[in-house]
Amino acid sequence: MSGMRPEHGQPMKEVSNSKLNNDNFTLNIHVSKLKKVNSELSKNYDVKKYLDPSKFSFSSQISELIPKDTPPYLDNGERYVERIARSLAFFKQCALIGPSGTGKTHIVYLVAELGGLPLWEINCGLQTSVFDLFGRYVGLGKENWIDGLITSWCRYGGILYLDEANMMKQDIATRLNPILDQRGHMVLTEKDNEIVPRHNDAFLIISMNPVSSEFAGTKPLNAAMRRRMSVWLNFDYMSVGQKIDEKEIELVEKKAEVSREDSEKIIKVGAELRSQYKSGELPYGPSVGDLINWARLVHDGTPLRDAAEETIVALTSDDIEVQEMVRRIIRKVSGS
Ligand SMILES: Nc1ncnc2c1ncn2[C@@H]1O[C@H](COP(=O)(O)OP(=O)(O)O)[C@@H](O)[C@H]1O
Ligand SMILES: [Mg+2]
Repeated sequence: MSGMRPEHGQPMKEVSNSKLNNDNFTLNIHVSKLKKVNSELSKNYDVKKYLDPSKFSFSSQISELIPKDTPPYLDNGERYVERIARSLAFFKQCALIGPSGTGKTHIVYLVAELGGLPLWEINCGLQTSVFDLFGRYVGLGKENWIDGLITSWCRYGGILYLDEANMMKQDIATRLNPILDQRGHMVLTEKDNEIVPRHNDAFLIISMNPVSSEFAGTKPLNAAMRRRMSVWLNFDYMSVGQKIDEKEIELVEKKAEVSREDSEKIIKVGAELRSQYKSGELPYGPSVGDLINWARLVHDGTPLRDAAEETIVALTSDDIEVQEMVRRIIRKVSGS
């Protein structure tokens, strides 16, 4: 599944390794005062009693990894943001379960921004090397060691976000085990068995698709990681099947500047596609970001169905028969 999931606009941003390729990085003891968290944003979420940015301090280079300008996360009073913050404060970790496109990555960025926490992001479905994750020597000899992503997180703190954690390769999962305890540490076997204690403010969030026979290639989360997750939060699409969320209609209407009527059609089609994705009929369910893209073309004057061809139809699959299924759903649900 992971291969077919495109990355959607905001707030996707992969932590760049190049930030770490720098000797100053490990020597930097400069503590920067955290920039004020976007106050407009923090008004809407009550996370301060769990994660207070003024209580954390990170070196200036690490502070660059604190997300900025994350759009609000919309829910119906479930208070997901607060529940994630609470889980991190109490247990240092949290697991998010839900199909792709339900805003898991988005909400992690938001929690990191609100908490003033640097974010280290790894997609476990991609074949990231052990070197990139744990570290390596560069050049000749044993002079220049560069920490990998997980090592940097463990040393300097922040949120480590393991996307599609159930797809993690076994050799990496095994090395993670000793760090998963709240007072854990990691052992750099590559570097004369250096022991790196888990930073006091090193939080872990994992996410995964619900495991079901329908989703080809998904597998259960490894037992060691499962045992160490105290809180599990379930995510779903705002609108799915017969359940249509007024807020999602408004979001598309506002973001793409289309009529309320068009937005409603688009959301209803999206809800049906998602429902078929969840039951295994379709290989992909559109996120609200995908539906906004469709609506943008409509705003530009393209008729709904033509605009769908270039966006939602092609996005769902390359398979001609699957594309025909999507077209039928669009015709039936939108009535156009
Ligand atoms: N409840 C929500 N509120 C605001 N935006 C959302 C919500 N759910 C999904 N999105 C948007 O949908 C897109 C996909 O979300 P993403 O976080 O990548 O999903 P996931 O990580 O679960 O696959 C993003 O553009 C995100 O901003
Ligand atoms: Mg994601």
